[in-house]
Amino acid sequence: MTKLEKIKEQIINSQVWRSMFRGGTWKDNSRDRAQHILGNVWLHLHPARVRSRSIKTNYTFGLGGLSFLLFLILTVTGIVLMFYYRPTVDLAYQDMKDLEFVVSFGRFMRNMHRWSAHAMVLIVILHMVRVFLTGSYKTPREFNWGVGVVLLVLTLFLSFTGYLLPWDQLAIWAVTVGTNMASATPFLGAEGPFSALLGVGLKNDARFGLLGGTSVGANTLVRFYVLHCIAVPFITGVLMIVHFWRVRKDGFSAAPLANEQPNQKIETWPNLVVREYLGAILMLVFLVAWCLLQNAPLEGIADPNVTPNPSKAPWYFLGLQELLVYFDPWIAGVLLPGIIVGGLIAIPYLDPDANRGVGYYSVKDRPFASTIFLFGIGAWFTLITIGTFMRGPNWSWYWPWESWLFHKPPPPPTIILPLAVGGALISIYFAVGMVLPRLLSKLNINLRSAIWKMLVVAIGVAAIVGALPMFTFVQGVWVGFGLFLYVVLGFLLPQTYLKGISFLRYVVCMSLLLMMIGVFLKVTVRLGFNVKYIVSIPQVSLNI
Ligand code: HEM
Repeated sequence: MTKLEKIKEQIINSQVWRSMFRGGTWKDNSRDRAQHILGNVWLHLHPARVRSRSIKTNYTFGLGGLSFLLFLILTVTGIVLMFYYRPTVDLAYQDMKDLEFVVSFGRFMRNMHRWSAHAMVLIVILHMVRVFLTGSYKTPREFNWGVGVVLLVLTLFLSFTGYLLPWDQLAIWAVTVGTNMASATPFLGAEGPFSALLGVGLKNDARFGLLGGTSVGANTLVRFYVLHCIAVPFITGVLMIVHFWRVRKDGFSAAPLANEQPNQKIETWPNLVVREYLGAILMLVFLVAWCLLQNAPLEGIADPNVTPNPSKAPWYFLGLQELLVYFDPWIAGVLLPGIIVGGLIAIPYLDPDANRGVGYYSVKDRPFASTIFLFGIGAWFTLITIGTFMRGPNWSWYWPWESWLFHKPPPPPTIILPLAVGGALISIYFAVGMVLPRLLSKLNINLRSAIWKMLVVAIGVAAIVGALPMFTFVQGVWVGFGLFLYVVLGFLLPQTYLKGISFLRYVVCMSLLLMMIGVFLKVTVRLGFNVKYIVSIPQVSLNI
């Protein structure tokens, strides 16, 4: 035994050490290692032994643990910031400046808090993607997946409520854009459909409740402060405990493979815990380096009289803001997010095969689910990219290399289709989309070759439409793109993969799928053909 090992043994077996960590003299045997996990208030969130796959870096990538680490960093740095920050209109911005220039390590604390918040949003999304791709939402983990979806929403809301606190121009206008969506809520928002039925107006609607007024002001700051520092972290913390408890009870990460032996497990201490500590250290080192090099943004003091053009929501809501170009606010800001969240929670209950592709990256074994999910995530980030980099003054399209000083001509006039035409188009779209894959489910289509053939057809259609005198080449490309999307995602994939599924599941799956494809077809007709509404019934605020 080396001198160092002797010292280590003396420390571990000292009375002080043993009083902190339960158990007798440390013998470093299997029993002691299990006892170290089970007898420790923090570590007993783990089981004593775990499947060897769950410690592989390229299985979970430690993303759940890193999400939690970021939540802890945010809690600690947030508490430090609370010692200095006062949530009033007169003092908030000044306190931000003091943190930057007067308070020791104030700028660093602020940087850590701000960048960790962005990192947490990103890492929680990646964690969800990993859980999906490994089929880890299936029985018995359906409920925990649902808890996870709520945690994702809470993470976004935590970040959003914090956005206002610096009380700079970026803050109040991003929050103005974000909270405007609340006024579009059906029944509860002053500008939402059916609000008149309940007597809801500007001074008693959902937005008023959030802002404490009709515009972002002193009351909003206090409300967001309380939501950000107490209410939302409390609810998030409670749900995290539920999440971890279920992870533990449902057999921990890396669901067992069909042919896996129960004894194919290894000790949590030190194998998993040491890796977790290492991951945490790496993340911390990265964050510290990033925060030393990159300051969190702080613009001029909030000025309600000077509206920046464009006013942009925080990046994770920019996809929804971009959808405002194509849909009415209540559809873009309330209905679609509601359907997305509801649809995500429903995934485990819609998935017809509880045992297929669980516990490993099973894209190949679950091609339908994986394609649709990845398409949804990809589409979300595409819209975010457009909102972040391609939108300039008046929300006009600017390529990243174009100067915003260059004045874009006003957009061409938009078209609203006659009600009969639009109504017929939408009815046919949903009716055909719903019936056809089921009706033709007995047809034996070779998917791969059908997709290639469809690609050729789409290119042909694009060329023909583009060559017609009344259309441009770009419009031809839009038509080809829309056709390809609809036929592949809306017909070929469900025709092949939703064959044996029960009627109810089929209807719900297809409704969600057709709505998702429909969003992109609407983007296509808006950008390609300036169609503002396919169906417009203003009397009931139905403009699609
Ligand atoms: C604040 C956000 C979150 C935190 C702190 C968190 C934390 C964790 C941790 C530590 C684990 C175990 C380790 C791992 O598998 O990576 C885990 C597993 C899991 N998480 Fe999350 N999570 C969060 C959000 C989500 C979201 C958004 C979803 C899905 C929508 C989700 C669904 C799950 C599921 C189903 C498991 C079990 C996975 C398995 O057994 O392989 N979580 N989470």
